[in-house]
Amino acid sequence: MSKSYQPFYVLHGASSSLVIDCRENAASILYWGPRLGQETSPEMLALLKIRQEAKGCTEKDAPIALSPEYGAGFIGNAGIQAHHSGRGWGVFSQIQSIVFVDESNQLVITSSCEASSIEIVHSLAIDPKSGVLTATTKITNLGDTLLDVDQCNAPTIPIPLHCDKILGFEGRWASEFQLRNVDRFIGTYLRENRAGRTSHDTFPGVVIHAEKTNESVGEAFGLHLGWSGNHRIRIEEQSVGRAYAQLGELFYPGELRLAPGESYCSPTLYGAHSDNGFSGLSRCFHSYVRSHLTDLRVAEKSKPVHFNTWEAMYFDLEFGHLCELADKAAEVGVERFVLDDGWFKNRNSDNAALGDWFVDEAVFPNGLTPLIDYVNDAGMEFGLWIEPEMVNPDSDLYRAYPEWILRVPHAPLVMSRNQMVLDLTRDEVQEYLFERLDSLLSDNAIAYLKWDMNRDLNQPGDSEGRAVAHYQTLAVYRLLERIRRAHPKVEIESCSSGGGRADFGILRYTDRIWTSDTNDAIDRLRIQKGFSFFFPPEVMGAHVGPSDCHTTGRTISMATRATVAMFGDMGIEANLLEMPCDEFSELKSAVALHKKHRKLIFSGDLMRLDLPSYESGFGITSEDKKEALFSYALIDSQPHSAPGAFRFDGITRESLYEVNIIWPSTPYYYSEGILDAINGAILSGDALMTVGMQLPIMLPQTMLIFHLKAVE
Ligand code: DGJ
Repeated sequence: MSKSYQPFYVLHGASSSLVIDCRENAASILYWGPRLGQETSPEMLALLKIRQEAKGCTEKDAPIALSPEYGAGFIGNAGIQAHHSGRGWGVFSQIQSIVFVDESNQLVITSSCEASSIEIVHSLAIDPKSGVLTATTKITNLGDTLLDVDQCNAPTIPIPLHCDKILGFEGRWASEFQLRNVDRFIGTYLRENRAGRTSHDTFPGVVIHAEKTNESVGEAFGLHLGWSGNHRIRIEEQSVGRAYAQLGELFYPGELRLAPGESYCSPTLYGAHSDNGFSGLSRCFHSYVRSHLTDLRVAEKSKPVHFNTWEAMYFDLEFGHLCELADKAAEVGVERFVLDDGWFKNRNSDNAALGDWFVDEAVFPNGLTPLIDYVNDAGMEFGLWIEPEMVNPDSDLYRAYPEWILRVPHAPLVMSRNQMVLDLTRDEVQEYLFERLDSLLSDNAIAYLKWDMNRDLNQPGDSEGRAVAHYQTLAVYRLLERIRRAHPKVEIESCSSGGGRADFGILRYTDRIWTSDTNDAIDRLRIQKGFSFFFPPEVMGAHVGPSDCHTTGRTISMATRATVAMFGDMGIEANLLEMPCDEFSELKSAVALHKKHRKLIFSGDLMRLDLPSYESGFGITSEDKKEALFSYALIDSQPHSAPGAFRFDGITRESLYEVNIIWPSTPYYYSEGILDAINGAILSGDALMTVGMQLPIMLPQTMLIFHLKAVE
């Protein structure tokens, strides 16, 4: 067959390059790494990568193709695993055509395998500015019988052997995005998620890096699957001496069966390569989110400070009480008042009423309008909590339509938080939910929805006995999209018992992510650090909770609670009516400080600092590096009588900066203050980065915020 395509294709980002090798039957990644100079040709790379036959191995390695193939003799995990009733399993494709799309810096490679009766389309693009790679694999059934698809992973990424460290994510409810380091080994690092949401314990992202990589220097690859359902992350080192990473959706048995002519496209794999350490990776992803996933209507608006009723009132809602809270919220500087769970018919606890999305007349006899008017008159937007995908057995909806839930018909129902999951793949369920949400949004001046989802999909089966977790995730996207189209001004937050549904897939339809159900500022430091690997601060919901944290019982000062919330999309979730005056006025100052600096926080470059576990710190610098904020936290007692230096990072060495300590308003002093001597001093970036600033003696669980402004 004559080939009308080239042997190699090169895509460049600002600081990275991707080389695709099309010399074999199937395409593969020859190179992904720092941007190649003009003097380097793909042929040179190919020459350098020639391998030889090793003892006990095949004459020639089966390639780590974009979708490695069993038909080619690949004995790792094939990218596509599909068959027609057991036939055609050994995919061995042939490239049919390759198209380079200039405007999107994208390569579209179409292949087919006649014996398997499938067409495969791989799309790979590099965003020129952020350098983020986006990649998908699409499979189409070309046969005339059903095609069972067991796996269709996003394009497989070969990993250089020297990047042998894996930084993955684990966690639990109220402790999401916990980083876990693992040494790669010969064999498979495998993370599987069947929670039906991104989950609290298996965030769909991973970082693969070289031994000496830290926050500011060294090589790292970051990979994230933009999918809000079940997934699999595989990193395999083969004994033959090579390694690859593969991310894709995870299906239950028989879940994906394609009819003749039907297609399935994998979720998008988002990847970045950095030579500037982990923070460098994060900056790529943040830049990509800002330019590609943030909705324009949100990007152009300054993000309002929230008040949320949950930890202030729980289910104990009362009109007068809410108005008093609204007054206090407005006084402290809040710009959006969010009525959380408990506002709808018979919802007095988490035992009942999910599904009945009608205002509770016992609490709001005249509907929500009087409260919304009150909130608007106080100068705030109004937001409302919902949990559309769920239903309680004790609800009018379930009593009327018990067949609307997901389940495994022959097995007892598995309950969680007293609730069951509606089968959103049913048209009548979609229609009911759309009608309810549409009428709530049409009848009330609601600016924002907190879209919650409080349980895993343990039994994601439909009434016909088929697993439908995949279709349920698509159905959630569909409903979100429809609501957004009907009410384009309404902003939506993705919440799932905290950060249980956080990924770039849901971010296409939402504007904020509720990071975690814990407002414990100390735990939040770790959670928000993990979150910041892929997500920028402006999508990170971060609230100031009560002084005795409800999830951990830990008592934390206002200064500390406010510092941690200030670096995200800030909010308050505590009973302001019971807040002591000194705390209230400190909170007011913190909100004002956040507002003063949020433009920088929501557009700047993040630099996390490498510090021992009893400390934590990061900086956010403007793109031109003329302004920066740095946050330093002493988490625990520190080992020396007097601490060491705080070394700034990510600023310009040659610049002079005026340094000010802007928070807390009254720092703790043990002896004559170092801070006073520094405040307002003009110091060079070089000195701040190389020598750093001698820290004052601080109490555990206290923090400082520095402001740096370049002077001419
Ligand atoms: C879980 C959420 O994460 C909380 O913030 C709150 O909205 C509750 N659900 C309400 O039931």
